[in-house]
Amino acid sequence: MKITVAEDYTAMSAIAAAHIVNCLRNKPDALLCFASGETPKLAYQLVAEKVQQDDIDLNHAFFIGLDEWLGIPPENTGSCHYFLQENLFKPTGIDPTCVHLFDALTANEQKECAQMDKLIDRSGGIDLMVVGVGMNGHIGFNEPGADVDAAAHVIELDDTTKTVGKKYFDTEVPINKGITIGMKQVLQAKTLLLIANGKKKAPIIQKALEGEISNQFPASLIRQHNNVIVLIDKEAASELQPTTP
Ligand code: F6R
Repeated sequence: MKITVAEDYTAMSAIAAAHIVNCLRNKPDALLCFASGETPKLAYQLVAEKVQQDDIDLNHAFFIGLDEWLGIPPENTGSCHYFLQENLFKPTGIDPTCVHLFDALTANEQKECAQMDKLIDRSGGIDLMVVGVGMNGHIGFNEPGADVDAAAHVIELDDTTKTVGKKYFDTEVPINKGITIGMKQVLQAKTLLLIANGKKKAPIIQKALEGEISNQFPASLIRQHNNVIVLIDKEAASELQPTTP
């Protein structure tokens, strides 16, 4: 596990963006998987800037979304779909045929999950996976108690996720279920980049990096990954033992 503590959110985002751009440069046909949420927003905007500046060719890479709120249409500004389109795919000019996101309105959840699993398998696995961490330690929508052997699946969301999740939405919407890439696929990603910033994430990062490794706190499972980069800002690192980072 490599832990990098950046000065602040801006510095953390610049380093995260550099990891993404390097992946695209080193392996032009890479499969990249992206979380949504407040944490990666600036990193994605910086990726978009860099891609435009350096004219990086994205036509051979493939991009997938980590998760989605089931039942929330893509045009809802709080959906993961909307977030990734607006902050990453549209500004970088990524061809829509090079993107696959979960369909939150699917009539066949099983088929939707199987399609994502197949896509990952066919590509030989995810080259770079960028994840955040929830206030309950979730990764994607792999909630406390997550099955470590699970591939893509639909899950009843934890109360913390339902409460915290309200921050993404302008209006009251039912967010009861999520569809997510599974913990098995997270742990099999060739490079796993976990990012977190801010004081409120400090106890979560402490538990993830220094607490018991348990599926009751999915973020702790990343310590079993052999190529994980934990990239956090000073505030998020503030509850760690001096010997950890
Ligand atoms: C979103 C996702 C979630 C978030 C996590 C942190 O696609 O996978 O697991 O990464 O809830 O969210 P923020 O970044 O908003 O604190």
